[in-house]
Parts: sequence; C-alpha cells; structure tokens
Amino acid sequence: ALISMRQLLDHAAEYGYGVPAFNVNNQEQMRAIMEAADKTNSPVIVQGSAGARAYAGAPFIRHMILAAVEEWPHIPVVMHQDHGTSPGICQRSIQLGFSSVMMDGSLLEDGKTPSSYEYNVDVTRRTVDMAHACGVSVEGELGVLGSLETGEAGEEDGIGAVGKLSLDQLLTDPEEAADFVSKTGVDALAIACGTSHGAYKFTRPPTGDILAINRIKDIHARIPNTHLVMHGSSSVPQDWLAVINEHGGQIPETYGVPVEQIIEGIKHGVRKVNIDTDLRLASTGAIRRHLAENPANFDPRKYLAEATKAMTAICVDRYEAFGTAGNANKI
Ligand code: G3H
Ligand code: 13P
Ligand code: NA
Ligand code: ZN
Repeated sequence: ALISMRQLLDHAAEYGYGVPAFNVNNQEQMRAIMEAADKTNSPVIVQGSAGARAYAGAPFIRHMILAAVEEWPHIPVVMHQDHGTSPGICQRSIQLGFSSVMMDGSLLEDGKTPSSYEYNVDVTRRTVDMAHACGVSVEGELGVLGSLETGEAGEEDGIGAVGKLSLDQLLTDPEEAADFVSKTGVDALAIACGTSHGAYKFTRPPTGDILAINRIKDIHARIPNTHLVMHGSSSVPQDWLAVINEHGGQIPETYGVPVEQIIEGIKHGVRKVNIDTDLRLASTGAIRRHLAENPANFDPRKYLAEATKAMTAICVDRYEAFGTAGNANKI
C-alpha cells in the first residue's frame, strides 16, 4: 500500500532503524528495489528527481510506482518527490498523488545558488501548509550539501551548489535547525554533515570520521521528533568500479560514504538515507560485463536482467545493514 513518509519514519524512529530512499528512473530500478524489499520484508521509499521526471515523464514515474504497489501489495511504499525547487513543483507532485515531497529551499529555484535562511523558511512553510492539508509529508533541507574533504557539492546534474563551500555552510547548525522546524513544521529534515551527491565524494579511502557524527547527534538532540535525512549516501562500491573499468569503463579513483558511517548516523536520528549513484554504478557494471562476455547478444532483456540482479543485491545489503529488513509487515 502507498503510505506517507511520516507514517513510515515514525515507525523507523520508534524501532531505531533507517530506510534507504532509492531514486527511480526506470523499470529495472523499480523492480530491483521491490524484489529486494520482498526478499527482506522491508518497507520502501522510492523517489523521483526532476531528472527522473524529465527522463521518463512524471506519469510514467507515478504509474511505475503504482504498478509496484499493485504487484507487491504487502510492501508499504512511500512515493516521494526528491529535491523540489519551488512550492509550485511540489504542488504538481501532490496533485499527481505523491505521498511525500521534498522542498529543497537550501538553494534558489535554479538549484545552484545557496539561498538565505528567510527564503528557505518561507518556501518550506508554504509547502508544508499545502502538503499537510492533503495528508502529504514534507522533507526540508537546511545547510548546503558538500563533501567535508573537498568542499564541493558534487557532480549531479541539476541539483548542487556551485563553487567551494565554507565549513559554516557544510554543517547544519543545531540551533538554526530547531528554529527552522518550529517555523516550518517539516516532518523530515535533510542536513549537511559531510556528504555530497554523485560518485566523487572523497579522493582518498575514507577514515572513521568522514562524517560529522557529533553534529548529527547535536541536531537530533535539539529536534528529536523531526526525522533526519542523509542525502548523498552512496558508498561507491569499489568492486563495481573495478568491474566497470575492467570492461571498457574509465572512472577515476573515488570513494563514497562507508556503510558503517551511515549506521552510526542511524544510531543518532538519521531515518531516511538517499541512494542513487550506487544503483547507477551497479547497473552500468553489470551491463558492461554482460555485453563484453556476450558480444553477439542484442536482446536488451538479457543485459537489463543482469542490471536488475546487480541492483537488487545492493538494495538487499542496504535493507539489512540499516535495520529496515523485517519491518514491512509491522507497519
Ligand atoms: O539528488 C540527486 C539525485 O541523485 C538525482 O539525480 O537529477 O540526475 O536524477 P538526477
Ligand atoms: P548519491 O548520489 O550519493 O547516491 O545521493 C543521492 C541523493 O541524495 C538523492 O537525493
Ligand atoms: Na529527498
Ligand atoms: Zn539529494
């Protein structure tokens, strides 16, 4: 069944687990997420970005998620809109039937320029007023996402600040977070704690304290009833990078967020963990390998099935690591 994000994350908070929120653009990603959820008895958050809506079209994204709900009726599913850049964008998603929207007011409507605090409060509060009237949950964002190592926002097309960011921007302030939540009424808050979007988060193998775990703790202590969201949570699996590069790919050395660090975050209030890049890497690796090993194949179903299998394995790993597994039938 389709459920709101508030309902799912309240359960996750009560029982101390986190939920991966996977981005969806196509049927293979959708099936991988659901097959993994089915295998592990996990509730699901799937999210469509502006890029996904441009690629597949909003009706296709919506119906793909509804098809998943129909095929796996025993799995609770949140249909979430990722990184809305205006209340109007969020309104259209609410109209389409999304059960949750993100109003990312940390950046202006261009998705690139860091905004003022007052702007962020204003657009987020307007979105909450509208969404809550429709039973739809809202995620806001405070702070500017960027790598604590490189000071850069990351390479995702569409969303991300341009240029070097200051430490002040890269870490969400706990007092400001408390003020933001009281002024806007958001259900969930994306915080800046050292992660960034895309595959190029860290240039060296990350050491234990690559994320600002203490900052997560301090924010959670100030707003214990607001679910924290960690964007840019791909781990950039080194084995898939190797598969890609062994079969004609050219991806430079790069590192993501270790799963153990995400688990630390979950211990301190992180409930929604956004993952896109890892599924992109796994599917690209699986397709490159299949085509290299089967040069005569021209049936897309054969290599796309390999992609689905590779993505399913990642989803199973994350559901198990974050404690999501075992909870679908308890909500
Ligand atoms: O927030 C970034 C997500 O990874 C979505 O990326 O805009 O390329 O679909 P996208
Ligand atoms: P990754 O690029 O680390 O997968 O992050 C995805 C994300 O935050 C989507 O909102
Ligand atoms: Na989001
Ligand atoms: Zn994001």
